[in-house]
Amino acid sequence: MASLRLRRPGEAALVLALRPAFSILNQLSMAGVAIPHDCGGKAQCGTCRVKVISGAEGLLPATPQGAEAVRLAALGAGPEERLACQIRTIRDLELEVLGRKTQ
Ligand code: FES
Repeated sequence: MASLRLRRPGEAALVLALRPAFSILNQLSMAGVAIPHDCGGKAQCGTCRVKVISGAEGLLPATPQGAEAVRLAALGAGPEERLACQIRTIRDLELEVLGRKTQ
C-alpha cells in the first residue's frame, strides 16, 4: 500500500497509508491531522499549500487556468507547490506543509 509522508517544521514526520479516493486534505482530516484549509477545500484560499518533496510523478498536474493553478500563481508558488485539497495519488508521496499550523 502506498504511503503519505508529511513533514511539518519542528515536528517528526508523520506517515499514513494513502487512500486514493480522497484528496490529501481529506485524508489528513480523516486521520485527525489538521492543516489550514480556510476555504474548505475549494482552491480559493491557498492555506493548504504544500511542497511536494517526492512522488510528484504520481500526481495529475494542475489544470492550466484551473482553480488550483490560478490560486498557486496568485500566491507566487514554486513549481513544486500544490494545494492539498486538490491533489490525490495512488503512489507514495512526501509533502511539507507550508501553510500555518492550526493546532
Ligand atoms: S483549502 Fe483552501 S485552497 Fe485548499
